[in-house]
Amino acid sequence: MATPANVTTDVRTTTVRLTVNGDELPLEIEPRVTLLDALREYGHLYGAKKGCDQGQCGACTVHVDGRRVLACLTLAAQVEGQEVTTIEGLAADGEMHPVQDAFVRHDAFQCGYCTPGQIMSAVACIAEGHATTDADVREYMSGNLCRCGAYSNIRAAVRDVAAGTGQGTTS
Ligand code: FES
Ligand code: FES
Repeated sequence: MATPANVTTDVRTTTVRLTVNGDELPLEIEPRVTLLDALREYGHLYGAKKGCDQGQCGACTVHVDGRRVLACLTLAAQVEGQEVTTIEGLAADGEMHPVQDAFVRHDAFQCGYCTPGQIMSAVACIAEGHATTDADVREYMSGNLCRCGAYSNIRAAVRDVAAGTGQGTTS
């Protein structure tokens, strides 16, 4: 079928230079590509999950310059020149991050689909000082949904790590 005269089939791409987990990741992508698709479809980093793709589940949570962001609502081009950290970049020197370790010890997952987002959010939540009470953790982790209902174990893992950093131990 012929293409109507007023419809263009050009796909305009641009070079977007991401820094992900300390590595340069130059991508030739359309400006409308989200950070989540850039990571998964172009960067082959599959840790950040696509749950809802509309900012409602938290499965895609990554850090940009240390702050948690929803990668499905962020354009890749927006974070050029900033440090993107995904779950793949959290462990150091072959050792799990303390939050990863706590999730294992507290059995804070079942199917694991939400887990990378939960962990990235938890790391930020603790760094923000929002993990001093169970109520705080419930509130500041409320953007991360878990269909398996592992919430109480997730909360215990977050509180455990927070307590180790000197944050409160009351419930
Ligand atoms: S996939 Fe981004 S919030 Fe659900
Ligand atoms: S562990 Fe299955 S969705 Fe959270």
